[in-house]
Amino acid sequence: MSWQELPKIELHLHLEGAAPPDLIRRMAKERAVNLSRVFAEDGSYVFDDFAHFLQVYEAATGVIRTPEDYARLTRAVLEQSAEQGVVYTEVFLSPDFCGGGDLGAWREYLQAIREAAAAAERSHGIVMRGIVTCIRHFGPYTSRQTARCAADTGGDWIVGFGMGGNETMGRQGDFAWAFDCAREAGLKLTTHAGEFAGPDSVRQALDDLRVDRIGHGGRAIEDAAIVKRLADTGVVLEMCPGSNVAMGLYPGMRAHPIAKLRGAGVKVTVSTDDPPFFRTTMTREFEGLARAFDWDETDVAALTRTALDAAFCDAATKKRLEDRLKTGTELP
Ligand code: ADE
Ligand code: ZN
Repeated sequence: MSWQELPKIELHLHLEGAAPPDLIRRMAKERAVNLSRVFAEDGSYVFDDFAHFLQVYEAATGVIRTPEDYARLTRAVLEQSAEQGVVYTEVFLSPDFCGGGDLGAWREYLQAIREAAAAAERSHGIVMRGIVTCIRHFGPYTSRQTARCAADTGGDWIVGFGMGGNETMGRQGDFAWAFDCAREAGLKLTTHAGEFAGPDSVRQALDDLRVDRIGHGGRAIEDAAIVKRLADTGVVLEMCPGSNVAMGLYPGMRAHPIAKLRGAGVKVTVSTDDPPFFRTTMTREFEGLARAFDWDETDVAALTRTALDAAFCDAATKKRLEDRLKTGTELP
């Protein structure tokens, strides 16, 4: 079995951030939108830094407009993930992009996304669940509306609530109302922290938002007390090493803190974040980690097991996935 065929679980993937550039170009053409500044000459996404990345991301997202567009996007993203051996994926969905935070409109987008996911499960065997996500730089007021959308549609398919966006704006605690609302509705919680902001952002996420998982969390390594707290409490990190390297946070895989955090007893998992933006795939992440840290199939199986345990889906779905993982975990 090759690295690509190895069954994988992904917990941190932004739906719009996973959009194949060709699909975005096609949608832009259909709508007569000029996206020349979104793409490099070779056709890939182009950006200078994190703030610019978010601008390019939102410009590309601007051409994905209708529920049918989101169904096309979901199909394309799930096919892409299934090709990389992903058997289960938790995907960040943003009602701010899908209907502008209006609950009625969000329900229509969600229905289209779910139908596309059900079709992909039938054709490619990949299982998807959604995490409704507010966008930090849209501010705390908007996050309340997003949380209401999450609370109203949460259940066995929308399984979590999270926050992405520009981590340097505001504090985690500014969004506590939204996270409390989602928690009360029975949703599991995650937030981006310790990606660009320092270890105190991880502390804030634990204290003020009481999350179950942290998106990224790499900069926790700068504070031994936070590392110990993560290890002691078992809060899981959704790490995206290729994304962090592409964003210039670390000069290469070897400099990424994932191995040190794992060595300190922190539960770490591996995801791609926005794969075409960062020229990565789940296969490339594992190949890169294996090369950088001399990790073998036993390490990969352990990381995948951690991801399965940390998934927000119900026990019956986990059992089904566990059976699929058992059937193929050996590398040549
Ligand atoms: N939205 C999409 N990708 C993101 C990232 N890497 N960090 C924060 N917000 C995001
Ligand atoms: Zn992310």
